[in-house]
Amino acid sequence: MLPQTLYQTAIKFATLKHVAINQKVPGTDLPYVVHLSNVAMEVLMANANTENFNVALGIQAALLHDTIEDTDTTFSEVEENFGLDVANAVMALTKNESLPKEEQMMDSLQRIKKMPHEVWAVKLADRITNLQAPPSHWDNAKKKKYRAEAQIILDELASGNVFLADRLQMLIEDYRKYISND
Ligand code: NI
Repeated sequence: MLPQTLYQTAIKFATLKHVAINQKVPGTDLPYVVHLSNVAMEVLMANANTENFNVALGIQAALLHDTIEDTDTTFSEVEENFGLDVANAVMALTKNESLPKEEQMMDSLQRIKKMPHEVWAVKLADRITNLQAPPSHWDNAKKKKYRAEAQIILDELASGNVFLADRLQMLIEDYRKYISND
């Protein structure tokens, strides 16, 4: 199937799932699909700048990456609709909420690292998308923590996609402007 067709199917599926729980982009009134399409856009840019990139896997994983974590979507449902490779990718991008909160990110990163590089690219693209101006209610400590987490994601996954790693590195530098040195 053409990547364009896969994109359309995945964005419709994900939009309905996130709309069903009325999920917005945090700190805004924008529907959650804006986040998902931004992640997919970053992955498409990576595809254009990376040799041997599986764009079908990349865009489906990008559009579906928060369905299992945030909505009632199950692994089997993703597998039935999009196949096992995509379901495994989404699962690796899903936090294991039975673990203590401070272990969840590193656990997910270690599972992502067992996946194809396109899945690493989705995680890099996710944090790139989220490193825009922080919501106004975030305090300095929260912003510092978010920036430090981004650095861990970069350190763990940089070798998965050089193009996105460079972009994330630049945004981490740039994010300094939102943080005051106290
Ligand atoms: Ni996300």
